[in-house]
Amino acid sequence: MKKIFYSIFIISSLIYSQKISAQSANNQKWWKEAVVYQIYPRSFKDSDGDGVGDLKGIISKLDYIKSLGIDVVWINPVYSSPNDDNGYDISDYRNIMKEFGTMEDFDNLLKGLHQRGIKLVMDVVVNHSSDEHEWFKQARSSRLSPYRNYYHWWDADRGKPNYRYSLFDVNHDAWKYDSTTNAYYLHFFSRKQPDLNWENPRLRKEIYDMMKFWAEKGVDGYRLDAFQFAAKDTTFPKFSDGFEKNFSKYYAVQNGLHDYLKEMNKEVFSKYDVMTVAEGAGNSFQDAHDMVDAERNELNMAYAFDGVDIAKPEGYSLLHFKEVFTKWDSVFAEKGWLSIFLANHDQARLVTRFGNDSNEYRDVSSKMLTTFLLTMRGTPYYYNGDELGMTNIRFNKIEDYRDMSTINEYKYQQSIGADMKKYLEEIKFKSRDNGRTPFQWDASINAGFSEGKSTWLAVNPNYTIINAAAEERDKNSCLNYFRKAIQLRKNNKVFVYGKYTLIDKSNDKVYAYTRELNGKKILIALNFTKENASFKTNYDVSKAKILLDNYSNASKNKILKPYEAVVYELK
Ligand code: GLC
Repeated sequence: MKKIFYSIFIISSLIYSQKISAQSANNQKWWKEAVVYQIYPRSFKDSDGDGVGDLKGIISKLDYIKSLGIDVVWINPVYSSPNDDNGYDISDYRNIMKEFGTMEDFDNLLKGLHQRGIKLVMDVVVNHSSDEHEWFKQARSSRLSPYRNYYHWWDADRGKPNYRYSLFDVNHDAWKYDSTTNAYYLHFFSRKQPDLNWENPRLRKEIYDMMKFWAEKGVDGYRLDAFQFAAKDTTFPKFSDGFEKNFSKYYAVQNGLHDYLKEMNKEVFSKYDVMTVAEGAGNSFQDAHDMVDAERNELNMAYAFDGVDIAKPEGYSLLHFKEVFTKWDSVFAEKGWLSIFLANHDQARLVTRFGNDSNEYRDVSSKMLTTFLLTMRGTPYYYNGDELGMTNIRFNKIEDYRDMSTINEYKYQQSIGADMKKYLEEIKFKSRDNGRTPFQWDASINAGFSEGKSTWLAVNPNYTIINAAAEERDKNSCLNYFRKAIQLRKNNKVFVYGKYTLIDKSNDKVYAYTRELNGKKILIALNFTKENASFKTNYDVSKAKILLDNYSNASKNKILKPYEAVVYELK
């Protein structure tokens, strides 16, 4: 009897251990090990002198992109668009925006990336389309149109629909009255971005077919724009007064969203080796988890805003920063996967928001932030231009801005009699245009971005000093530091999969943590201030090997210089 029990025990523990090792082998994925580089095509490189970046421009910089050491390019929307929101208002999902080039250019770009071993992730904008999309033109033409149900309509005979907040509208009203059919349509973003009706199976099928069209071309992944808002309660009940202050609670990850993601996975993702990420991760850790838990077959990795939202014009608390990143790491330690990022095209510049962009500290603080992004667990997303330490442009007048959301908010603030000087100051810190100024390639006219007379958005005048050509020549530049940090991550899986532990938790100047994998232990210490700062640890860093540091003489005495970043391998 005992023998039988014993053999059952042995067999079941064998099965169990096999399951564990199978799981961990299965847990290693290319998209977890990748570094994603985000390209904002409008501002990357203009090949034809019209002042707008384009696909041929990106193609001409493929060797630069390769030289960074990144694995994946996520490109912001390149589809046909009237550009109310720089491509986030798509009028034809199967064509390329005229200003950006042709489908042939796209195919060449994809080929050029693949030849260099780099994958391409497309931005898929399907919470809404453009009002110039054929579907919307049809839908708006008649209440009886077969496309009517592709969008959300509220017939005016029923009175005014309950208020919905629009992020980009001049009045923040998400219902736009349309006289042709005497009805309102819904737009969570601008009036030119009507929301698609995901309850309609025909619409869903069209979207999946469109996604397959790009997968068949060979794209390697999708970033689902604003998709957390796609599911809606289409009875449009009244929300409590002031809901707009916390609109995400009412809009994000509503009933039905997981079903759409599961269906999309079954119809599209499961058929290709693609990486998938949705912008926004809902209202709770549970929401985020549910989207990316491998067993649920939805998406690969969560892209949560809690971290990127921390920076404020008045500064931010490092303790809060540490708490947020530590909490998110712990929730995803065993299951699911995270994106790590502090900047993108919807934010102002990384070094201006999270570091210090003064002449004295721009270089070191930018490298310190790069160190953070590339030594955390999760897939790092790095925004183009941040590798040079590009800074906010800080326009003085509203006429200099191009971003529709900044301009509409200006009009709205004006309409409610707000202090406009204050608003102009605020947007110097936070407007998205700060992160969208043309890429600074060299010290020639228009920063080498364009040979045209003018550029769609002004070039930051500091391009004569901050530019890729100058940084190529300087072995200690931000650019070369970024390359080094990437190589370090690539050569040491501990940075990808290693356990993360926060140390010296209450230190409000230094962020220090360890990463551990198979006996290898790394300690990362980052001074987030412009003063010397010390940190406490029982580890003996004096004997540690320095793997990376942003000063030429790294501190080994637990006292860090201003914005110093050191990566120690502990003995
Ligand atoms: C996402 C995009 C942003 C765009 C918005 C509407 O937040 O990142 O740039 O304006 O969706 O599509």
